[in-house]
Amino acid sequence: GTTIPISSEKAAPERQQPSSLDECRRCDLWQNATQAVAGQGARRAKIMLVGEQPGDQEDLAGKPFVGPAGDLLDKAMDEAALDRRTVYVTNAVKHFKWEPRGKRRLHKTPAQKEVMACRYWLETELETVAPDVLVALGSTALKSILQTGSVTMKDYMGAPFEHEGRWVVVTYHPAYALRVPDRESRQAAFAAIVEALKTAQQLAS
Ligand code: URA
Repeated sequence: GTTIPISSEKAAPERQQPSSLDECRRCDLWQNATQAVAGQGARRAKIMLVGEQPGDQEDLAGKPFVGPAGDLLDKAMDEAALDRRTVYVTNAVKHFKWEPRGKRRLHKTPAQKEVMACRYWLETELETVAPDVLVALGSTALKSILQTGSVTMKDYMGAPFEHEGRWVVVTYHPAYALRVPDRESRQAAFAAIVEALKTAQQLAS
């Protein structure tokens, strides 16, 4: 009889999409990263936290927010009485962008074209998890969610808004709360993150 080949290549739509995040070549960041880091958490979480991109430790571990910024995020979640197991944590960009600085790998902010290339993966996460509330941790996350590079965090801080049928709460990136030079600003940034997480919980319930 006749065999009809069912290969993924034949079945692929005209515009070829990467079949998995690990094989993603939508931008060049995969070249210098150890691995892609997908989001992690509850599959039907009401709240999705969106960071920027994996850091050095996340790149090695293959999990989001497990390094110093993750520790601070965990503390903020504790303070906001938000259980990390009930939320979904991800990043706007899934590969670590960095430049060598001595023996260290120094984080580089992703370009908007990289953010837009990776929006494809955030979209699949949004479809799967279907959260009611997004928490944008920093400017890159906001630019990914709104799909434009010409937005300023300050215009959205402390003012949750609706976008494409879900709430968006904007706050500082946890790494910012670690690195601002003076202690008072660090504490204020931390407090703002805690407030944003509390707001997200109210909006989700
Ligand atoms: N910073 C991020 O934005 N995401 C991580 O996963 C870790 C650090």
